[in-house]
Amino acid sequence: MEYQSQKIAHWYFRIALVLFVLQVIMGLWLAFNYAFTVPQQIVDVFPFATARAIHTNLLVLWMLLGFMGGTYYIIPEETSSEVYSQKLAWLQLMAFVATGVIAIAGFVFGWTKGRPLLEIPPPLNYVVAAGALIFLFNIGMTMFRAKRWTVIQGVLLGGLVFIAVLYLFGIPFYRNEVLDWYYWWWVIHLWVEGSWELVTGAIMAFVLLKLTGVERSVVEKWLYVEIGLFLFTGIAGTGHHYYWVGAPRYWLWVGGVFSAMEPLPILLMVIDTMNHLKHRREQIANPHTWTLAVACAIFHFIGAGVWGFAHTLPQINYYTHGSQVTVSHGHMAFFGAYALLNLTVFYYAIPKLKGIETYRPTRAKFGFWTMCCAMMLMGLTFGIAGVLQTYLERILGLGYMTAQSYMRFWMGATFALGIFFFAGVVVTVVDLLFLKPATGRAE
Ligand code: HEM
Ligand code: HEM
Ligand SMILES: [Fe+2]
Repeated sequence: MEYQSQKIAHWYFRIALVLFVLQVIMGLWLAFNYAFTVPQQIVDVFPFATARAIHTNLLVLWMLLGFMGGTYYIIPEETSSEVYSQKLAWLQLMAFVATGVIAIAGFVFGWTKGRPLLEIPPPLNYVVAAGALIFLFNIGMTMFRAKRWTVIQGVLLGGLVFIAVLYLFGIPFYRNEVLDWYYWWWVIHLWVEGSWELVTGAIMAFVLLKLTGVERSVVEKWLYVEIGLFLFTGIAGTGHHYYWVGAPRYWLWVGGVFSAMEPLPILLMVIDTMNHLKHRREQIANPHTWTLAVACAIFHFIGAGVWGFAHTLPQINYYTHGSQVTVSHGHMAFFGAYALLNLTVFYYAIPKLKGIETYRPTRAKFGFWTMCCAMMLMGLTFGIAGVLQTYLERILGLGYMTAQSYMRFWMGATFALGIFFFAGVVVTVVDLLFLKPATGRAE
């Protein structure tokens, strides 16, 4: 750690890690509900929809905290200066944590806006918006004061501003159902397939730059190409969500064609990472960060690129829309792209924040492989349940509950795999929270 203010990032990471564990416990509960019949008394006080809202909102919160912590870690090094105000960074963290706690308590008591992944109701939306403004002001001022601009900084700031602006479209209540879903997708799709990708590109470029010591211009050249393609395909690709919401017919074409091109920039990211592998210096202090960066690129491509492509054409999406096929893709993509990205940053930054030169990678490796294998298999079991659902409900025209009875076994398998995934998460989180220097021979 070169700058005192980078320390703030550590608290963002710690809280994100705890929320990750809570998120996954909720996931287990959801899968359990699909596999087994829960007594009605329990459903009455803690319905599936509440657990689902907690699962997905915690996901969004811990990932955003990870991005913001990552930014507070990166920006001092990129600008060669301390963060503008550490007090504001703390204030902002408290605003987000308070929102999270109140929102989850609110969900349990039925205080929700009801729109998936963005269930947080209006008064809290404004607190989130204020927190985001404080964050952007703080980061912007740090850069402005330092007057030392890099492409990584620019893309990072651009991505973060884009995230905040899009969030605003999800706040109002639209009386027209079509409009409501239109803007819901502006947030959800343009987050994960637009602005979050910009943040990912910038953070990944920073980590690769630091790990390889390769010329900055090499990393930046790729960043331009990837970002350009992400924006080009991602923005028009929003159309793959307008197929069945009552939007005009031309979206079938626009959405189909442009979203089918979306795997391209993700593939470029894999090629880029592999290129860096060649520049790899002989001695890297903690090679586990490398493993994570490469895994992120590959899993990102499989989960978002391949799994996304599989159901993006309207001819296929007509049958699979809103089924467990979608859920399978949601898990593979979020885990592959953004959980692994955050873990890459955590494993890169936390040792430095603690002043650890090298650590024993045994627990880290165990956690990593358990999570990756379990999630890959969960992607398959969710996927099989989804294909069954599609066939039984949409082709044979059987009722929803009849289809569920055939899917039950696969949701049970998902629950069982989820226990392994959870074990991997716990080992990883404990490892990161209590990381110690390796004693004896460096590994
Ligand atoms: C890291 C990037 C991505 C993430 C995190 C992600 C995540 C998700 C999630 C969570 C959903 C479900 C939303 C809901 O209905 O509740 C979804 C839907 C969808 N995604 Fe992605 N996605 C990513 C990239 C992609 C890409 C690149 C494609 C296309 C090539 C794609 C195609 C789709 C399609 C077609 C749907 C709608 C499914 C339906 O109609 O039910 N996604 N995505
Ligand atoms: C033990 C691990 C996990 C299990 C068993 C699990 C299970 C589930 C279940 C059963 C649902 C509800 C699907 C539905 O509404 O039909 C769900 C939703 C979701 N989960 Fe998980 N989950 C786990 C971990 C994760 C992780 C690690 C992530 C992200 C990195 C994640 C992201 C999501 C998303 C984005 C949704 C909404 C999907 C959609 O709307 O299509 N889950 N999860
Ligand atoms: Fe999308």
